[in-house]
Amino acid sequence: MDSPFKPDVLKSKVALLTGGGSGIGFEIATQFGKHGACIAIMGRRKHVLDSAVSVLQSHGIRAIGLEGDVRKKEDAARVLESTIEHFGKLDILVNAAAGNFLAPAEDLSPNGFRTVMDIDSVGTFTMCHEALKYLKKGGPGKGSSSGGTILNISATLHYTASWYQIHVSAAKAAVDSLTRSLALEWGTDYDIRVNGIAPGPIEGTPGLDKLAPKEAKSKMSEYMPLFKLGERWDIAMSAIYLASNAG
Ligand code: HXC
Repeated sequence: MDSPFKPDVLKSKVALLTGGGSGIGFEIATQFGKHGACIAIMGRRKHVLDSAVSVLQSHGIRAIGLEGDVRKKEDAARVLESTIEHFGKLDILVNAAAGNFLAPAEDLSPNGFRTVMDIDSVGTFTMCHEALKYLKKGGPGKGSSSGGTILNISATLHYTASWYQIHVSAAKAAVDSLTRSLALEWGTDYDIRVNGIAPGPIEGTPGLDKLAPKEAKSKMSEYMPLFKLGERWDIAMSAIYLASNAG
């Protein structure tokens, strides 16, 4: 599919994406890169990062992989410092890192619940908090005209209720909530735009592979207005709009 955006719409922007080595995060990284941005991807698994970076570079994208766990404040700080060292500034932070598994509430331990809250919600907050000084108007490489932008990826599970997803639903609800709070506080104080995208079921992602067997996927598409699941590309196009100056 052809992109509806000009190929230089993100030219000279620098983006850091957590969870950028796979799934929706990787597709956003690829499309941001194809539209002119320099890309840093953060993840826990070196081999996933390495292969993602080589794919990005094969498209001619300036990309680096930085190992780190969003649950660790020191990893967040180090990854942000490395991004600045490498590319000189940060314009766009995308929080796409997430953890997931199916578990009935009855069988889910408090630590299982906490683990997903830690990755999705606390991890998103930690990354935003550590990135603030770079994203602020007047931050490194930025000048005083405008601040950067944050994009948080959540889900729609918590809009109603979803079977065996009590932990993820709570975690993604918290992500949506902190998106709104940061948009208010940091938009007003620092000219940082904070937005969220809440994808429904998206084909070809580790999230959906973990959560829905094949039969469930085909049933799901029967309930979709367009009779098909969403695609990673759909989310990446929305992300480009929000991350660009048009957003
Ligand atoms: C019940 C489980 C469990 C399972 C882990 N736990 N897996 N409980 N069922 N299947 C519990 C453990 O028993 C433990 O609690 C606690 O969770 C921590 O488990 P660890 O294995 O030590 O954690 P860790 O190694 O950090 O792994 C984190 C993880 C894992 C979330 C459990 O799945 C992971 O790393 N996932 C990252 C990749 C991923 O999931 N990507 C998909 C995201 S997509 P106890 O009490 O025993 O100590 C996504 C989309 C959402 O989020 C929207 C979809 C529509």
